[in-house]
Amino acid sequence: MNEILIEGKRLRLRRANASDLNYIITLQYAPENLKFVVPFDENYHREIITSDGSEKIDVIVEELETGNSVGYFMLRKLDSPCAEFTHVIIGRKGIGYGREALQLLMKWTFEVKNFHRIWIDCKDYNKVALHLYESLGFVREGFLREYLLTNGVYENLIVLGMIDREYLGISCCC
Ligand SMILES: CC(C)(COP(=O)(O)OP(=O)(O)OC[C@H]1O[C@@H](n2cnc3c(N)ncnc32)[C@H](O)[C@@H]1OP(=O)(O)O)[C@@H](O)C(=O)NCCC(=O)NCCS
Repeated sequence: MNEILIEGKRLRLRRANASDLNYIITLQYAPENLKFVVPFDENYHREIITSDGSEKIDVIVEELETGNSVGYFMLRKLDSPCAEFTHVIIGRKGIGYGREALQLLMKWTFEVKNFHRIWIDCKDYNKVALHLYESLGFVREGFLREYLLTNGVYENLIVLGMIDREYLGISCCC
């Protein structure tokens, strides 16, 4: 039985299960996504999926109308007051699913789970993701210079965060 986190107008977020492994790996390694994320292998995801989920979970973004998987996130540090969103990937890009899925995730973390803070990091040249996060109210908090070594090149990371009281000031919609 799939564990549903939350549902919105067009999307549902649910915890991933073993049948999602292929989708998760394929999405991460697709060239248009791979340049923006650091992928994990199947064994790593299998461990997350079969864990009790107290520290991290893999999350599938599912279209309500079709039941198709349209994206994937990982949530980490769930055993602390400060959850981390990572591996934010939408397969069906450019039709507002990224925005809706993140809004749902924000609602789940702050309104359902009562986290104090959420945060995310992003490569400094990932303009679409940075625009999306900031337009949702994430605040730039840090700049990690030459943090990630990717194909022989050191890349910069931007850390963005949101506090519960900031979310409550801007919460909306879904
Ligand atoms: C970043 C990502 C999750 C966004 O999801 P999405 O569903 O494509 O985004 P949305 O359709 O919800 O659009 C969000 C915003 O980005 C803008 N946007 C989307 N695609 C864009 C593009 N190719 N160029 C410029 N802006 C774009 C949209 O206009 C929208 O802004 P607006 O509401 O102010 O108009 C998705 O593109 C993705 O998976 N990218 C590859 C992996 C990645 O970069 N992950 C983030 C790692 S930190």
